Amino acid sequence: MTNNNPPAAIRVTGLRKSYGQQVVLDGIDFDVAPGTVFSLLGPNGAGKTTTVQVLSTLIRADAGQVQVGGHDLSGEPDAVRAAIGVTGQFSAVDRFLTGEENLILMADLRHMGKQAGRRRAAELLGQFDLTDAAHKPVLTYSGGMQRRLDLAMTLVGDPRIIFLDEPTAGLDPRSRRTMWQIVRSLVASGVTIFLTTQYLEEADELADRIAVLDHGKLVAQGTAAELKRLVPGGHVSLQFGDAAVFARAAHVLAPTSRDDDALTLQLPGGGDVTSLRSVLDRLDQAGIEVDGLTVHTPDLDDVFLALTGQPEMRRNRAPRHRRQLPDERHCLHRERLGHDAAPAAAAHAALPIPDRHRGRDARRLPSALRLRARRDHGLGPGAHPAQSAHPALAAAG
Ligand SMILES: Nc1ncnc2c1ncn2[C@@H]1O[C@H](COP(=O)(O)OP(=O)(O)OP(=O)(O)O)[C@@H](O)[C@H]1O
Ligand SMILES: [Mg+2]
Repeated sequence: MTNNNPPAAIRVTGLRKSYGQQVVLDGIDFDVAPGTVFSLLGPNGAGKTTTVQVLSTLIRADAGQVQVGGHDLSGEPDAVRAAIGVTGQFSAVDRFLTGEENLILMADLRHMGKQAGRRRAAELLGQFDLTDAAHKPVLTYSGGMQRRLDLAMTLVGDPRIIFLDEPTAGLDPRSRRTMWQIVRSLVASGVTIFLTTQYLEEADELADRIAVLDHGKLVAQGTAAELKRLVPGGHVSLQFGDAAVFARAAHVLAPTSRDDDALTLQLPGGGDVTSLRSVLDRLDQAGIEVDGLTVHTPDLDDVFLALTGQPEMRRNRAPRHRRQLPDERHCLHRERLGHDAAPAAAAHAALPIPDRHRGRDARRLPSALRLRARRDHGLGPGAHPAQSAHPALAAAG
């Protein structure tokens, strides 16, 4: 029998990674079909970023087979790098360059040629609504603008496979939706997206397939609908106005759970009309007044809770501002750039650094701008203010 399915864009088998004694990935397997969105969910520290870093050649796996874009990760890392783009969890824009300069630097690292690089930069600035800010230093951009620029830099070389590690963390709902639109249009043009997110709604909206990572293993994989079927059905929640009414209702309805402080009862069921009518009829017959009624259908939050035992992930929570530990930065930098190179843009695809930037360091471009930025921030010429905040640069110092 012939298999007419196109080869997987990403194929992972038996992937393992430990840091010292800590097992982060304990043999994970998955395939990502071309032109689809695959979303990796998991609690903080589950190993999502580690997975992205391994698959994008930034760190080495301990064991397992990985193919990306049809290329073997260990045998053909350069071919993998040429096929991919990476938007890391931590912004890799150079805040001392303008938006346009960041994009041109990226085009330069992609060996695109001056004209083509400028053209692509202008195109992306337009597409990401950054044209008006193109000539301003990135340190004057809002968080959302920086994130858009970060993604635009990933797209400079038109990669066919893109890794997005929490691309919308910290964005307001409107910016998040703009980002979703961008992801959808990339997928419509055949691009494959590997997405990690803490927003379950985001995975629900975008992902063709979702995998949940917990304690080093993929504890579930499937479409959002398939995952939702894994957890017990929905429930109806009833709210009562006083303790006496609440107690009578609890007696009449035999709820699955009750909260005596909040005066709420939970009944099983997805809220279909017949069962709702039956509940209300029973309350009516007993002369019991209900203050409020909520129908809860299972969503990915329930799936996540059931599978990982974690409290609700960030649906409406404020963004985290986690810094990489010094050893993380060091390890990342050493493995991907080598000691003499620091262009932030290289982080977008673990790119080799063109000779003219080696030793010279792209951070010094353009010097007038850097001097002005240093002056404006009260920094001496020896200090690079990004060193404390920028993973790629910090390790370069
Ligand atoms: N360079 C490193 N050295 C040592 N331990 C590391 C390193 N990088 C990651 N870890 C550890 O590996 C585990 C997985 O980290 P990782 O960043 O992959 O998690 P994550 O799922 O991306 O978490 P988050 O949701 O917080 O971003 C964590 O316990 C982390 O402390
Ligand atoms: Mg992470």
